[in-house]
Amino acid sequence: MNKTIIEPEKTERLRQLADMLQMEIRGQRHIIPRVVSVLQRGELGLSKAGRPRGSFLFLGPTGVGKTELTQVFTGKLFGMEKLVRYDMSEFQTQESLGLLLGSRPGEKGFLGAAYERTKTGTLLFDEVEKAHPRIMDVFLQMLDAARVTIATGETLDLSGFYIVMTSNIGSAELMTLQHSAESTLERHVLSRAQQSLRPEIFARITEKLVFHRLSYEHQLEIAAKFLEKEISFLTGRGCNIRVAESVLSFVVRKGFHPKLGARPMRDAAEKLVGDAVAMALLLNGSADGCLTADPANDRLKIE
Ligand SMILES: Nc1ncnc2c1ncn2[C@@H]1O[C@H](COP(=O)(O)OP(=O)(O)O)[C@@H](O)[C@H]1O
Ligand SMILES: [Mg+2]
Repeated sequence: MNKTIIEPEKTERLRQLADMLQMEIRGQRHIIPRVVSVLQRGELGLSKAGRPRGSFLFLGPTGVGKTELTQVFTGKLFGMEKLVRYDMSEFQTQESLGLLLGSRPGEKGFLGAAYERTKTGTLLFDEVEKAHPRIMDVFLQMLDAARVTIATGETLDLSGFYIVMTSNIGSAELMTLQHSAESTLERHVLSRAQQSLRPEIFARITEKLVFHRLSYEHQLEIAAKFLEKEISFLTGRGCNIRVAESVLSFVVRKGFHPKLGARPMRDAAEKLVGDAVAMALLLNGSADGCLTADPANDRLKIE
C-alpha cells in the first residue's frame, strides 16, 4: 500500500463521524459503529484493491432510517450530489438491464452516466430483492471486482464507491413477532435475506445490518427534529415563530405509526406546520406568532 498522507481536516471529520451520524439517526445505535468502521477504513484507503470502498446491506422494516443513514453519511463524506439512487422496483424486467448499462452500442445507461458525473460516491440500490436476476449478476460483478462493462464497451471502475443495498425482506413477519428479542428478529431477517439474494452476493457484502423498529420514544425525538427543521426553514423565509409545548405531542399523536416508521411523522409535521402557516398568511398576511395545538379543530394554529 502506498503511504498516503491524510489531510487533518479529513481525519477530524472521520473521528467525529459516529457522533454526527448518531445525532441524525435515532434508535439505531447498534448499526452506526459498524457503518462507521467500514467508512473509516474506506476513507483511509484500507479497502481491498479491486473492490468497492465498502458495501452494505441495510435490512429492516420501512421508515426506520435505512435510506436516511445512506444520505447522511454520503452528505458528510462527499456532499449529497455524490449519492446516486436507484429504485430496483423499476428494474424488474430483463429490459431494465439496458436501462442500467445501455442497450445499444454507444449507450451509457444510467450507471455509465452516473459514473461520468461522479467518479466516487455512493450507489444506493433500494428494494434490491426486486431486481431482475440479470441485474443481480451485475451486483455480483460490482461487489466482487468493482468493475462493470457498459454498452459503450467501457469498463467502469467502481472502486471509489460505497455500495448500499436496502431491503425489507423478512420484516413483515417481524411485526407479528413483536415480543421476540431483537437478536432473534435479526437472525430471522438475515437468514431470509440470505435465501432471497444469492448466497454469493450476500457473502460479498461487507456489512449486513438489521435496523430496528422505532420505539415511541425514538419517534418522539424524530418528531422534534422534524419540527425543528420546519421551523428553521420558515425562519429562513423571514417568519418569526415560537413553538408552544403542546405542539410536539400533538404532532406525535397525529404522526405516530408503529408499522410505517417515521415517514408518516415527517408527513404529519410538514402538513400540520405548513397548513398553520398558510392559514396565518391568508388570514393575517403574516405567519409571525406562537404555533400551538388546536385539537378542537384537529390542527395547529399560529396565534
Ligand atoms: N432512525 C431514524 N432517525 C431519524 N430519522 C429517521 C429515522 N428513521 C426514519 N427517519 C425519517 O423518516 C423518513 C423515512 O426514513 P427512510 O430512511 O427513508 O426509511 P427506510 O428505512 O424505509 O429507508 C426520513 O425522512 C427520515 O428522516
Ligand atoms: Mg428506503
